[in-house]
Amino acid sequence: MEKKVAVIGYGSIGKEIIASAKRQEIPNAKIVAVFDKQSQVVNSVDNENSDVHLFSDFDVFYNSQTYSNLDVIIECASKDAVKEYGKKIIESKKDLIVLSVGAFSDKEYLAELQDLSNLNNTRILIPTGAIAGLDSIRSVKKYLDSLSITTTKHPTSLAGAPFFKRSKIKLDGINSETVLFEGNASTAIELFPANVNVAVATALAGIGLEKTRVRIIADPLISVNKHEIVAKGSFGEIHIIVQNIPSPSNPKTSYLASLSAIECLRSLCNESFRIGT
Ligand SMILES: NC(=O)c1ccc[n+]([C@@H]2O[C@H](COP(=O)([O-])OP(=O)(O)OC[C@H]3O[C@@H](n4cnc5c(N)ncnc54)[C@H](O)[C@@H]3O)[C@@H](O)[C@H]2O)c1
Repeated sequence: MEKKVAVIGYGSIGKEIIASAKRQEIPNAKIVAVFDKQSQVVNSVDNENSDVHLFSDFDVFYNSQTYSNLDVIIECASKDAVKEYGKKIIESKKDLIVLSVGAFSDKEYLAELQDLSNLNNTRILIPTGAIAGLDSIRSVKKYLDSLSITTTKHPTSLAGAPFFKRSKIKLDGINSETVLFEGNASTAIELFPANVNVAVATALAGIGLEKTRVRIIADPLISVNKHEIVAKGSFGEIHIIVQNIPSPSNPKTSYLASLSAIECLRSLCNESFRIGT
């Protein structure tokens, strides 16, 4: 049966999801609403020949007839959006796909949302996003001795990170490959909230935020967003390297993240056959 879907956040990922749905690449999914807090962004949605309802106020969206008919909401907005709307979405019995997985570095919030989801019989799905192999990491989590992720990005992809307010390192002063951060996933997402959702996703799939080691490197000569994951334990070893093309409209976001979100929605709406754990 066709599922009615709303997209929260009409940025680089949201636009790709909607474009893919328009090309009819997501069977059984109908995008019926877009909510973005910026009204000028919402007004830029090309709504010609479609009946997508547009919202720039969450309460108006939440109280609308369109909302009550929804099956799935896909969040591709921000950590704050997950925190602000997550509980209401789950309490209203909608399945929720979360791209801004950094929000789940707050363990208490995640536990609360999981309890609500069990109570309301809904699902919270986190796409693999800009990396690969979360299925394998999840499969071996009981057998892991160590888990690490090294993210290398061009300095412009790291612009705006709170890290630079606290550090002596200045973004425009980076002329060669520079290790900016080494620590756990919990601190990494605080300092780079828009850049290391992948570290939180890796940690949640594996041994948790405190034990997952993260390195963040700025490299002015790199043209891709690179993630290297190493998992070691009694099962053996996993080494994963992903080199992503940055999204043209937002260099912080890798194009693969959009494709992964689309694939997650596709499998949620068309469950009859699935490859991968
Ligand atoms: N899981 C992953 O691997 C992964 C990869 C890339 C990006 N992300 C995350 O996905 C999210 C979307 O990425 P993007 O590149 O499309 O971002 P973007 O900045 O291009 O667009 C985000 C849009 O969401 C809107 N928005 C932000 N906060 C909102 C709120 N509270 N309520 C309503 N609208 C809000 C903004 O106005 C903007 O239009 C970001 O949080 C990003 O960090 C995750």
